Amino acid sequence: MDLRVKHWEALSFIEQKLRESLNGVSDKLHESMSYSLLGDGKRIRPWMVLTSSKIAAPHLSQQQAWELASLAAVAVEYIHTYSLIHDDLPAMDNDDMRRGKLTSHRQFDEATAILTGDAFLTNAFAYLGATSNNAAEQCVLLAKSVGSEGMILGQLEDIQVHKNTNETAILKVYGLKTGKLFAAAARLGALSVDASLEVQNCLSNFGYFYGIAFQLADDLIDKNEAVEFFGEDKVKILLQEYINKSIAELDCFGSQAEDLVELSSRLLIASSY
Ligand code: IPE
Ligand code: IPE
Ligand code: MG
Ligand code: MG
Repeated sequence: MDLRVKHWEALSFIEQKLRESLNGVSDKLHESMSYSLLGDGKRIRPWMVLTSSKIAAPHLSQQQAWELASLAAVAVEYIHTYSLIHDDLPAMDNDDMRRGKLTSHRQFDEATAILTGDAFLTNAFAYLGATSNNAAEQCVLLAKSVGSEGMILGQLEDIQVHKNTNETAILKVYGLKTGKLFAAAARLGALSVDASLEVQNCLSNFGYFYGIAFQLADDLIDKNEAVEFFGEDKVKILLQEYINKSIAELDCFGSQAEDLVELSSRLLIASSY
């Protein structure tokens, strides 16, 4: 079954929270923020926040866990949306299309795209700061994961990657630019329900390895970066390795974590279409 069909309930919960999050946004930014936030995103990161919250709190109902994690889910999708708007800019990847439509700077203009990204980045922390469990810890975690020690460092290193790069260097960049946000998503779910450090660590490690596998799968689909450097066969071997590493982190949860196991396993199938 398609993951979107199986998880329609979580995805419609996320969609509703994202839509509500734009209520009250100034008319001047509403159009460009809605344009990039609402639409065809897969919502894997906010889904990971919600799914992790339920795994980390088996004593809570799904609805209770999701409500506690909902602000973190919105914050993570905001960060992701901002990262894509800026990633597509002429000074970065210079892309015209995103999710089947024009990128923000092509639909509007560069200044609007930059400021729209800034608005998502800033507002993410306003949401996270208002969460009921471990708000300060969640804000620090997200900032460290996506700031100068995480995603932004990875984005800079990604631009500077040379043709004669090696496997270790690429995996480090992928861990920073993609793995850190997925790791944060999974740990934020656990922090939202006040889970133990051990549970947080297992979920966070899962997210990190999954993120690297996700980026490798993305390269296989787009036939770029790692595929250009090492060839498809090598990237497939690495992908399988990181899927396995991610799943190994979930051992302690048994069948409770089956949705995350399935999510990770599917990367190999998705990347071979
Ligand atoms: C795209 O992420 C950026 C990468 C890390 C490869 P997604 O593939 O999750 O993007 P959307 O949100 O579904 O469009
Ligand atoms: C996406 O990276 C941006 C971040 C991970 C922050 P890529 O440049 O590799 O992804 P696409 O191909 O534009 O989605
Ligand atoms: Mg990029
Ligand atoms: Mg790009």
